[in-house]
Amino acid sequence: MTKKILILPGDGIGPEIVAQAVKVLEKLQNQGLAVELDEAPVGGAAIDASGVPLPEETLEKAKAADAVLLGAVGGAKWEALDIAIRPEKGLLGLRAGLGLFANLRPALLYPQLADASTLKPEVVSGLDILIVRELTGGIYFGQPRGIRTLENGEREGFNTLVYRESEIERIVRVAGDIARKRDSRVCSVDKANVLECTELWREVATRVMEADYADVELSHMYVDNAAMQLVKAPKQFDVMVTTNMFGDILSDAAAMLTGSIGMLPSASLDEKGKGMYEPIHGSAPDIAGQDKANPLATILSVAMMLRYSLEESEMADRIEAAVNRVLDEGLRTADILSEGMREVSCSEMGDAVVAVL
Ligand code: IPM
Ligand code: MG
Repeated sequence: MTKKILILPGDGIGPEIVAQAVKVLEKLQNQGLAVELDEAPVGGAAIDASGVPLPEETLEKAKAADAVLLGAVGGAKWEALDIAIRPEKGLLGLRAGLGLFANLRPALLYPQLADASTLKPEVVSGLDILIVRELTGGIYFGQPRGIRTLENGEREGFNTLVYRESEIERIVRVAGDIARKRDSRVCSVDKANVLECTELWREVATRVMEADYADVELSHMYVDNAAMQLVKAPKQFDVMVTTNMFGDILSDAAAMLTGSIGMLPSASLDEKGKGMYEPIHGSAPDIAGQDKANPLATILSVAMMLRYSLEESEMADRIEAAVNRVLDEGLRTADILSEGMREVSCSEMGDAVVAVL
């Protein structure tokens, strides 16, 4: 049963980091992993080729695949375009089109990189947080939305924050299920003191957790406090579950605690466990094409793919062990370089992981 993986390199550093992940996949193919790889354009690359950020054919291929690996989308070149056809819309269209409502964003501190954090080592050492971000609802997709002109000629921008009970319930269940495999603690983040939508969020989260996850400890936190706690005492958290936009913001903050956004993978899953996997960082246009980017987040995204969508957890473990090994050997891309370590390029880092495998 050969599984199909669709590769979407995208823009900026996307193609170079994805190329390293493909090397890893090809190495595993040689060792018996039954996958076949296909590739398609998305984001700015797709706009340049065909005028739209998510061509019909790309979405069809993604739907037919067992898993999708994405590099990154976006860049200055396309920033002047209407928001409805920007590269980012390609990503949002994939999330919506594939029903990828559950976004898992781990923030894990590799002990070898403790010095890379801007926070004191004792605050972040041993950090292991998982942010579960709702990904296909909330203000990102709510209607109505737009920019309108008022009677007095002034323009007004508007978006809508909406969540149905069923949307809240299914993401809370994902958080509860994952927490059981970790430290059995879920912190639900909202702004229930101001926004009715998240008042409902809190109510549903409480109901679902009390009914079906009595063994998991549930706490609630307002998002402003959660942002503060993340930089003050981040180790208090195990799993955090939150809305699309709060998750967007908190996951960047959490990622930076580890000092190295270039290290963090993510998974976006549908109801059946099919998923799209991508590094948390963006397309980094300033270093694109220079073979300088850190490919480890993308390589670790392959590990998440093997674990969550391809039922190959042993191969996933091997990739993670290989990454640990190259870090132990002192290899560092520029973003995680520290004194006494050896700086390597993006492709050298990819080769090093393949060599360990
Ligand atoms: C992310 C990114 C995206 C988002 C952008 C590129 C649309 O910031 O995946 O966190 O806001 O979701
Ligand atoms: Mg973001």
